Amino acid sequence: MRSVWLDTHQVPAAAADEFVPGAHYDTVVAGAGLTGLTTAVLLARAGQRVAVLEARTVGAVTTGNTTAKLSLLQGTTLSQIRRHHSEEVLRAYVEGNREGTAWLRRYLDERGVPYQRRDAWTYATTSKGAASLRKELEAARAAGLHVNWTRDTELPYEVSGSITLPDQAQFHPMEVLGALAAELRERGGTLAEGVRITGAGIRSPLTVRTTEGPVRADRLVLATGIPVLDRGGYFAKVSPSRSYAMTYRVPGAPASIPAGMYITADTPTRTLRTVPVGEEELLLVGGNDHVVGRSPSPRAAVDDLEQWTQRHFPGAERTHVWSAQDYQSVGAVPFIGTLPRGGGGIYLATGYNKWGMSNAVAAALALSAEILGGSVPWAQVLGRRTTSPADVLTAVKFNGSVGFHAPKDWIRAELSELPEHSPGEGEGVVGREHGRPVAVSTVDGTTCRLSGVCTHLGGVLSWNDAERSWDCPLHGSRFAADGSLLEGPAVKDLPRLGS
Ligand SMILES: Cc1cc2nc3c(=O)[nH]c(=O)nc-3n(C[C@H](O)[C@H](O)[C@H](O)COP(=O)(O)OP(=O)(O)OC[C@H]3O[C@@H](n4cnc5c(N)ncnc54)[C@H](O)[C@@H]3O)c2cc1C
Ligand code: FES
Repeated sequence: MRSVWLDTHQVPAAAADEFVPGAHYDTVVAGAGLTGLTTAVLLARAGQRVAVLEARTVGAVTTGNTTAKLSLLQGTTLSQIRRHHSEEVLRAYVEGNREGTAWLRRYLDERGVPYQRRDAWTYATTSKGAASLRKELEAARAAGLHVNWTRDTELPYEVSGSITLPDQAQFHPMEVLGALAAELRERGGTLAEGVRITGAGIRSPLTVRTTEGPVRADRLVLATGIPVLDRGGYFAKVSPSRSYAMTYRVPGAPASIPAGMYITADTPTRTLRTVPVGEEELLLVGGNDHVVGRSPSPRAAVDDLEQWTQRHFPGAERTHVWSAQDYQSVGAVPFIGTLPRGGGGIYLATGYNKWGMSNAVAAALALSAEILGGSVPWAQVLGRRTTSPADVLTAVKFNGSVGFHAPKDWIRAELSELPEHSPGEGEGVVGREHGRPVAVSTVDGTTCRLSGVCTHLGGVLSWNDAERSWDCPLHGSRFAADGSLLEGPAVKDLPRLGS
């Protein structure tokens, strides 16, 4: 599964530098997604010696697999925030996103990166969804956004209501990362791919441990999606949510597909936008999110989206299919700031709730200001927010379900012996062997036997039949069929076992 973005724009490998063990930087940034590269560019502009260390390749995880709508109308996010937090926090969130959006649009204009201006829509097809929309309308207006209510959309089906915010934007996320990587290099910054951060000290200068040897840094920014150092316990404060996306060539496009950016207030989520590729305008359809590692069949989620698309856009021909995950914070407000018990020199940004195009840039603006000795008022308000009783309950519920999953999965693996025969092509199974969970899969004719226990905090892995990967139901780490780490809070591959 490969996204239309990663397939149609590669950031050249030549944009990456040699990693130099033992080097000393003002700031090391872990992760070359939108958060990491924007932060690095801002620090390099201020004259800092910056190195971005990326475990895989630029954009390989969420930013290269997003749907890349840059919008202040974000589904039903604003009413969720209003339900959990004060009006001051709601306004601060919108202010941060407004700044992030404005910065990015200016940047794209300056660097000549194309983007399309589009109206953003949140719509519903049920009466329950319409009730959520009313709340979103009120929250958006309370936050100063000029949203309108209408039942008149470009969709090929009836809606029970929709709200719309004009003049938002959509873009190609890999083109944006490419521009940021180029500017970082122009300003003397370092970008090294294939270097995973595995740990860091506390005392300044920090010793940053990586898979390729240590480096030293006065500051470390964890722009890794979910923070990879467990101090602060962010793995327990956010929930990893995976969703699916596809692009289609639709007969009669562009006239036959909606031009705007649409997302539902109902569940299951449906998200739509157009994607210009060469002379063509493709339709992107996404949705069917679930907690990572807890869907019995991710492949069924893909099939369901395909059927939905064929029903509403008959004859659509699929060009790409992919999936990706982002981290949802309780109360829908991201965590941006210093890592607790990090000695004051380690920073993080996470919990964008699938609205990271503006939130990542907002986080980069706030983190770089803090590192350079300034402060950003909206970020201070978000950082001071208190946890409401409703948030505590939701967090307890999420962690309760994590707690429920861990022993249950252990027991399940303890109860069933590994089958004698290797799994069929594209299949994987976890079973008991000598009292330990063992994961066996067959992909492209190769059978791999691995430890079935996540290297983060011991969750028992489950097979993802769409991505052919091992996914952890606890905090969302994912591993390829050969055991190599793909994403999440873990920092080590799965141990391979002999046959
Ligand atoms: C399906 C989907 C659709 C979305 N659609 C939208 C949308 O339309 N609009 C919107 O605003 N937002 C959207 N989002 C959210 C948005 O894409 C993300 O919030 C954003 O891309 C996160 O960027 P990031 O840089 O923080 O993380 P990432 O892009 O995941 O970057 C983190 C990087 O860190 C690297 N890394 C991890 N661990 C280490 C380590 N130990 N050492 C070094 N490097 C490491 C990873 O390899 C990765 O490249 C969507 C998300 C999903 C999943
Ligand atoms: S991701 Fe935490 S235990 Fe697997």
